[in-house]
Amino acid sequence: MSDTITNPLDDLATDPFEVARQAAEQLAEKTGVTKHDIALTLGSGWGKAADLIGETTATIPATEIIGFSAPALAGHVGTLRSILLPNGKRALVIGARTHYYEGHGVRRVVHSVRTAAAAGVETMILTNGAGGIKETWKPGTPVLISDHINLTADSPLEGATFIDLTDLYSARLRGIAKQIDPSLDEGVYTQFRGPHYETPAEVQMAKTIGGHIVGMSTALEAIAARQAGMEILGMSLITNLAAGIQKTPLSHQEVIEAGREAESVIGALLAKIVGAL
Ligand code: HPA
Repeated sequence: MSDTITNPLDDLATDPFEVARQAAEQLAEKTGVTKHDIALTLGSGWGKAADLIGETTATIPATEIIGFSAPALAGHVGTLRSILLPNGKRALVIGARTHYYEGHGVRRVVHSVRTAAAAGVETMILTNGAGGIKETWKPGTPVLISDHINLTADSPLEGATFIDLTDLYSARLRGIAKQIDPSLDEGVYTQFRGPHYETPAEVQMAKTIGGHIVGMSTALEAIAARQAGMEILGMSLITNLAAGIQKTPLSHQEVIEAGREAESVIGALLAKIVGAL
């Protein structure tokens, strides 16, 4: 499914930050919440967290907000939810991720992150379902992202915009997550373009260059979040061992099922982490 309505982000003469500002304004109008504190992008398997972190006060189809794209996958939620946390903070749950592999360009991929920043968010939590390179990780294992390798050869930054990416995935926030669950392991997330899964040779390359996790999202979003000055927590749910590490072929169905099985446990974990921020 592709959206037929024109998206202002596709016009390169448009300032993407201005579109994000307008989106945040619409979000404030529709949710009645003028400032959000935390945003969460919930990837495969992480959806349950939204129900556990607090009281949902508004749910908005993302396509009602300027710049957002229609979901690429039938069954993808495609909503923005405003949640009141027990500690009084406001969380924005982004259930409408635009993937790089959809081919709509990086501006659309990072629009939700820029909208969150324009809505006042200071802490950005990026989650995903991904393949694991470490053989000790079983499907269903949540892992903290410690750093990334961006193999898309693309960037959300335009022009000569030089942004430091040291400690991109905040050591402070990882420390808080580990206080909640000391068994949490960490790994370097390697973003491939997709939508095909990697070949076993590509997985070996990722391993050789320092990757532990393979996926198709998050790295570009994290760069945009850093540019916007937000502190970032990244978490992957290992839905499968990466191609060639596991001996059987990968399937999207397997990824979805692993996500479903782990959903309650990792949802509860993420809710606890959010409560501690
Ligand atoms: N590779 C890339 N993306 C993924 C994988 C994988 O093995 N599993 C879930 N998303």
